[in-house]
Amino acid sequence: EIRNPLVAIKTFAQLLPERFDDADFRKEFNQIVVSEIDRLDKIITQINNFAHPPELVLKPIDVREPVKKAVEIAKSRYGINGKVELETSLPSNLPRVLGDETALAEAFAHLVANAAEASADRSKPRITLSAKPVREGEHSSAVVVTVQDNGTGIAPDIKAKIFSPFCTTKPRGMGLGLPIVKRTVFDHHGRVEVDSTPKGTQVSVLLPAATTAD
Ligand SMILES: Nc1ncnc2c1ncn2[C@@H]1O[C@H](COP(=O)(O)OP(=O)(O)O)[C@@H](O)[C@H]1O
Ligand SMILES: [Mg+2]
Repeated sequence: EIRNPLVAIKTFAQLLPERFDDADFRKEFNQIVVSEIDRLDKIITQINNFAHPPELVLKPIDVREPVKKAVEIAKSRYGINGKVELETSLPSNLPRVLGDETALAEAFAHLVANAAEASADRSKPRITLSAKPVREGEHSSAVVVTVQDNGTGIAPDIKAKIFSPFCTTKPRGMGLGLPIVKRTVFDHHGRVEVDSTPKGTQVSVLLPAATTAD
């Protein structure tokens, strides 16, 4: 992925001396080289953000907030199109969790983006985002946030590697989404579970409830 823009830029640079007088070539050179450099810049930003994540600020929060933010991020940044049906189920009886709203929103947005990308080719792509309390006797001990899609599922041969950086099956993928999810959830003392079949994928994030002393 990182090499592709460089190959395009180099090819154009090599052709420049002999095609310099060709106005069409100059125009194409200008468009391609500028857009490929922009792409490279975005790739470097993503790697940089992954290498130097902002420090988490944990506060008792309502998980519905980062979930709602994630939908906005996924729509604006990852271009989720209108064809995808996105349903959310966010009940009001959730315990608070000790969390960083920004980091959780980013993590959930990666899950929504993956769900949308996996189901994009379906005739009726459908994503369900839900949060549920985990009951333990009288009170709730945790919240589980689930992102479910009706996509193609995770290929069995890469299943073991999907949380490793740069593991991707997408032509323009970076393979940093799930590693970011894993790290964020780990930093929240939570757990991620993936359940995938050729009919769809469900990713669940369990976040322990903040104790009342928090
Ligand atoms: N919901 C999903 N359905 C099918 N495959 C998925 C899903 N989520 C993740 N994957 C697989 O895991 C890989 C890694 O995901 P991720 O770390 O987000 O990187 P990227 O999305 O950039 O490829 C994806 O390329 C894809 O093959
Ligand atoms: Mg992704």
